[in-house]
Amino acid sequence: MTVAPQARTTASPYQSYVYAYPHKTAYRRLPDRPALRALWADQPKDALSLYLHIPFCEVRCGFCNLFTRIGAPGELTTAYLDALDRQAGAVRDALGDGGRFATAAFGGGTPTFLTAAELTRLCDIAEDRMGADLRAVPLSVEASPATATADRLRVLAERGATRLSLGIQSFVDAEARSAVRPQRRADVESALGRIRDARFPVLNIDLIYGIDGQTERTWRHSLDAALAWRPEELYLYPLYVRPLTGLGRRTGLGRRTGTGSDPAWDEQRLRLYRAGRDHLLAHGYVQQSMRMFRRADAPPQTADDYACQTDGMIGLGCGARSYTSGLHYSFDYAVDMHEIRGIIDDYVSRPAGDFAHAEIGRRIDTDEARRRHLLQSLLQAEGLPHAAYRERFDAAPADHFGPELARFADRGWLTDDGTVLRLTPEGLAHSDAIGPDLFSPAVRSAMAAYERK
Ligand SMILES: C[S@@+](CC[C@H](N)C(=O)[O-])C[C@H]1O[C@@H](n2cnc3c(N)ncnc32)[C@H](O)[C@@H]1O
Ligand code: SF4
Repeated sequence: MTVAPQARTTASPYQSYVYAYPHKTAYRRLPDRPALRALWADQPKDALSLYLHIPFCEVRCGFCNLFTRIGAPGELTTAYLDALDRQAGAVRDALGDGGRFATAAFGGGTPTFLTAAELTRLCDIAEDRMGADLRAVPLSVEASPATATADRLRVLAERGATRLSLGIQSFVDAEARSAVRPQRRADVESALGRIRDARFPVLNIDLIYGIDGQTERTWRHSLDAALAWRPEELYLYPLYVRPLTGLGRRTGLGRRTGTGSDPAWDEQRLRLYRAGRDHLLAHGYVQQSMRMFRRADAPPQTADDYACQTDGMIGLGCGARSYTSGLHYSFDYAVDMHEIRGIIDDYVSRPAGDFAHAEIGRRIDTDEARRRHLLQSLLQAEGLPHAAYRERFDAAPADHFGPELARFADRGWLTDDGTVLRLTPEGLAHSDAIGPDLFSPAVRSAMAAYERK
């Protein structure tokens, strides 16, 4: 059975992927424009993660709400790299001597929208300006099939990329069209061949389920086509139609973020989720989270000494976030194409001095730090060890989140063996309802205010 996106009208508890908390729509202008030097002065800086954001794509896919624009007219990519270089210099200055990077990633958008020469420059910025030793740390890069050309892949492999993540979404051309992601299966297969030839230790493939017209049979067909390449990782994303995206406009969603939905749609999505999960488990993959699966014999990808719940992040480029323990900050955020273009134009015009301050962000107090820790651990299949929570917050998770955890347990979504709090398989399936349930009232209302803007 397929349920047309048009059928989704009522509010659903399954809203979105909680990949970072608090969400950027809860960030606000920081009137005091704090200096990065002061923000980072007392932070642990020996295992930072570095993220460089490239906000360009060849197309704007119908489901996509990421911070990215179509194409780069004139010399925009050069101007963007110039601005990245200025920002990197200013941020490096603010970090002082102590900063050391334990992981790095180029994301987007589509980093491989840049030419091979531009990718070389991007790596130079990460290494020479920021001091990241790209060949010594895990380096992940996102790519699309059309832009995964041999010359670009060669640069990335030579500079130390350990993981190449390819957005495919569907191996069925008609489904790709329906998701407004024009691509041909033959081109996807050639891109996969080029990526395997370049010998990155890890190939990740992104697929989407819940596309209009997709059935359990066609979903399994895409999974099998992906499995034929024995990717070390697979991400299975549910399709949520969001306002201001191509599909959102088509289905008449307004400016609100969050999705419209109805129970039949949620049921269909969960059915495809279970089919996908069971298929991958039967083919030697281990589930890491609701979306992520890793081949049982694949090399681990995180640096030994990096923990996403606690360690700092430096994001460069507009659209990138940075995290200290007390403040998350970024440049401005938008989904609407026109606004995105304005923000990028503003970014490339900024002098170096502007990059020494945080302009937009959200303060993280102790309550938010606890929520973030709980969210990020609980939504992983391995769960939250009591000891890790106690070490950081000197209490048990239930001391701070008793009612929420009891609610999840009552629904059969959560188990606690006294050592680890862990989602059940059913709980993992409902991750997208669990995440938002743990947001603080303040973050919830800031997000709602952004949505009404
Ligand atoms: C930055 S793209 C990956 C690289 C490249 N831009 C591409 O699309 O091939 C991010 C990935 O997030 C996934 N995704 C899931 N939900 C999404 C959403 N609502 N908006 C954008 N991307 C989404 C897609 O599977 C997509 O491949
Ligand atoms: S899914 Fe990837 S290629 Fe498509 S618009 Fe989003 S970032 Fe660009």
